[in-house]
Amino acid sequence: MHNIHRRNFLKAAGAATAGLVTANIALNTNASTVAPKPQAGKSVIGLVAPKMDVVRVGFIGVGERGFSHVEQFCHLEGVELKAICDPHQAVLDRAADHIVKQNRPKPTVYTGNDLSYRDLLSRDDIDIVIISTPWEWHAPMAIETMESGKHAFVEVPMALTVDECWQVVDTAERTQKNCMMMENVNYGREELMVLNMVRQGVFGELLHGEAAYIHELRWQMKEIDHKTGSWRTYWHTKT
Ligand SMILES: NC(=O)c1ccc[n+]([C@@H]2O[C@H](COP(=O)([O-])OP(=O)(O)OC[C@H]3O[C@@H](n4cnc5c(N)ncnc54)[C@H](O)[C@@H]3O)[C@@H](O)[C@H]2O)c1
Repeated sequence: MHNIHRRNFLKAAGAATAGLVTANIALNTNASTVAPKPQAGKSVIGLVAPKMDVVRVGFIGVGERGFSHVEQFCHLEGVELKAICDPHQAVLDRAADHIVKQNRPKPTVYTGNDLSYRDLLSRDDIDIVIISTPWEWHAPMAIETMESGKHAFVEVPMALTVDECWQVVDTAERTQKNCMMMENVNYGREELMVLNMVRQGVFGELLHGEAAYIHELRWQMKEIDHKTGSWRTYWHTKT
């Protein structure tokens, strides 16, 4: 019943929800037409995965953002970079070479087509998967990651429609796996400074808040063959 209530609430609050979700998401499903699909699931709010002494990581998409995640993980102790997947050979080689240069074992690489990531997911020696692909792949890859018994960490945005959001929630509840959207800006110095000011009452009592994604990204539109401009511009034309 809990699920039914929250789904009905979301449906009724379609306009408000769309406002929240569309900050940088191409919302191509009208929330009011999304049929609620109640499923019995144990909430994953507060889910704590069993402690891992070593976290074995797979990366899907190692373009600009995914490569920076590879770089960051190379700085961490207690992680093994097991496998990477990307259909674009140049970025795949760049990531694999970087890992080796950091004196870590060469990862297994998966490439060839858009579904090669399924070979990575079929392994049983990976605990978490970092997904840094174009937006349309996020929810399907996150769902398949959890279904393969791994925790999913997905770049922004996690999903493109309210229906996809519920599929992610339902899968997390069914599999009891974590699925985290890797929003990072809220941890920035300026954002945390404003949060601190709010908590100290500098602005008085806050009654209303608005936010927007204001970010100069027009230069990326020139990246026609590869990188962000080759896919993200399409979404900008829809929002
Ligand atoms: N959180 C942030 O601050 C932040 C910053 C930049 C980008 N991002 C997000 O990161 C994601 C990636 O952006 P980017 O700038 O790295 O784009 P990019 O185009 O440089 O990289 C995407 C990579 O995904 C690969 N890819 C495409 N389809 C694939 C598939 N089926 N299987 C495996 N790999 C596939 C592409 O070949 C490419 O190398 C986007 O969702 C973007 O919104 C987030």
